[in-house]
Amino acid sequence: MNTVSNDKLDLFFGRRSIRVYAPGAIDEQTLSILLKAAMAAPSAMTKDPWRFVTVRNQAMLGRLAAALPGGKMLSTAAMAVVVCGDLDAALEQRLGYLLQDCSAAIENLLLCAHALGLGACWVGIHPSEDSARQVREMLSLPKAVLPIAAISLGWPGEQLEARTRFNPAYVHPERW
Ligand SMILES: Cc1cc2nc3c(=O)[nH]c(=O)nc-3n(C[C@H](O)[C@H](O)[C@H](O)COP(=O)(O)O)c2cc1C
Repeated sequence: MNTVSNDKLDLFFGRRSIRVYAPGAIDEQTLSILLKAAMAAPSAMTKDPWRFVTVRNQAMLGRLAAALPGGKMLSTAAMAVVVCGDLDAALEQRLGYLLQDCSAAIENLLLCAHALGLGACWVGIHPSEDSARQVREMLSLPKAVLPIAAISLGWPGEQLEARTRFNPAYVHPERW
């Protein structure tokens, strides 16, 4: 890739969606670092509406994989973190703020996973009402808590090249 070689920048360019996993568990200390990184993300008025359901149970991973059309890899992941948002806690109780805050937390979690040598993939739940309903029932989520995405996590079983999808046509200097 035509980018300055720099360990810190590799965090961004080297992060890829990893969907194939090698055997191996993720210990509690590593999970704690991932969650701390997620909760270091920006949040509108620091409301921190994000909530995290950590799933290690193999049967539950299988059920998530079956429920989510893009989530087949969850059945072979070491674990999943289901990122949810509490609408009661979000700024002005608005879905727009909840989604932006949760997305920032998800990206932090993905970048942290990459920094730790883990493989991770964002599996969308929101805005599919069917996926959300199934996940909500499976995880016994309270009414105001919306499942946004399941993050599959494991030790990487595939290597994907670093890259950017930079497109100069998407950039408008000074004005559109
Ligand atoms: C909102 C959102 C939902 C996504 N849902 C899925 C999914 O259900 N299954 C999946 O395999 N990847 C999913 N992805 C990952 C994208 O497919 C991936 O980020 C994209 O192809 C770019 O590849 P990269 O992450 O390796 O750069 C999702 C990403 C986002 C932002």
